Amino acid sequence: MDFPEGFLWGTATASYQIEGAVHEDGRGTSIWDTFSHTPGKTYHGDTGDIACDHYHRLEQDLDLMADLGLRAYRFSVAWPRIQPDGVGAANQKGLDFYRRLVDGLRRRDIEPMLTLYHWDLPQALEDRGGWTSRETSERFAEYTGIVYEALSDTVSYWITLNEPWVAAWLGYGLGLHAPGKKDVGDALSATHHLLLGHGLALERMREMGNPGDDNRLGVTLSLSPVRPATEDPADVEAARRVDLNANRLYLDPLFRGSYPEDAEDYREAGGFGFVRDGDLEKISAPVDFLGVNYYMRHTVVDPGTKTDLQPAMNFRDLNAVTVIPAGVETTAMGWPAEADGLTDLLVRLHEEYTQIPLYVTENGRAVHDYVDPGGEVKDEERVSYLDAHFRAAREAMDLGVDLRGYMVWSFLDNFEWGEGYSMRFGLVFVDYGTQKRIPKASARWYSGVIRRNGLGD
Ligand code: NOJ
Repeated sequence: MDFPEGFLWGTATASYQIEGAVHEDGRGTSIWDTFSHTPGKTYHGDTGDIACDHYHRLEQDLDLMADLGLRAYRFSVAWPRIQPDGVGAANQKGLDFYRRLVDGLRRRDIEPMLTLYHWDLPQALEDRGGWTSRETSERFAEYTGIVYEALSDTVSYWITLNEPWVAAWLGYGLGLHAPGKKDVGDALSATHHLLLGHGLALERMREMGNPGDDNRLGVTLSLSPVRPATEDPADVEAARRVDLNANRLYLDPLFRGSYPEDAEDYREAGGFGFVRDGDLEKISAPVDFLGVNYYMRHTVVDPGTKTDLQPAMNFRDLNAVTVIPAGVETTAMGWPAEADGLTDLLVRLHEEYTQIPLYVTENGRAVHDYVDPGGEVKDEERVSYLDAHFRAAREAMDLGVDLRGYMVWSFLDNFEWGEGYSMRFGLVFVDYGTQKRIPKASARWYSGVIRRNGLGD
């Protein structure tokens, strides 16, 4: 099973999850520093203070990427390294780090894919309202201008936001992520201001032109196909609520220039009073590609439905619960592993929203990995998960989807947000005590896939 020539195979990470060095070279405090240092917020009180110490181990990590034969690497820039307080002049040392990173990638013939916002908002901006404030969208565009000015000669792929749904709903609605707010109205306002931030950042980059000749601008969403667990009208209706929240609340403004009609559901939470004339035009300005993060399908029941199926996630604010369908395996995160959901998702995007190129900017699974007495990490579960998902992606391409690349989450085990270091998503095992990197069986397997540009039949 082959992939088209030039298919971009890579891995992904994010700044706060791997860099550590949180006080180095003038970096300011982000909402994740504050949140992870607040007792009770993360598993075992884990923080990103050291993480994979990637900031100090850059060259070694780049060499490892080259050894594995990666063609692309998606990483994010830590806003507080560039503007410690989220405003004003650039901190040159912060920019220097990312310059070393992208030059190091280019030297090794690895395509950089840069994400501007992967959740580490400068705390100073949160103190003024964070993403519930319009000012943050404007500041984000300024910050984007600084990074684009510094790196757009060599970075071709620009992603404004990573998973605005997670940033808004886990951060401002459910309180599970930084900044830990629990208010549906705030989550809604954060949604809009994140999307507006994307629109303003996009506008800024377009104005600055195309210094690399080949610059492509996009955004990454977390998306999940949704289906009701039964045909019961209550479950069907609960599935509609989940699809609205998880998918359409983001896809519609970006690709149709309006919030979905059934977003009226949110009237009680305060509605969309913060939307101003012209916002949706900016949000829906054309992008060059869409990044898709796929982890699971949502099979939904109304909380009143009696079922023997094991619950997966509780969308409390939406009055809906997801369940694990019979016979479906779950990952260490407790998420259902359903590769065919990726085919459905990509086909839906192509048919209902856009024909621009798509990239899977994240997909992967957590496994309870360990180093065995022989020094090996035998993560067969990850290999079969990825194999099935690559095949599902290929199937979508056969059905007409213009999929151009695939970034496995993640290059290294890393700080899994609220789960701390307890969840391992890496192709490379990290022994946090010694910072030793041990490529897992899946890393070797993935190298082979990249080399052959395909999977065995
Ligand atoms: C998506 C997020 O972008 C990433 O930061 C996270 O670690 C993975 N999902 C796994 O949960």
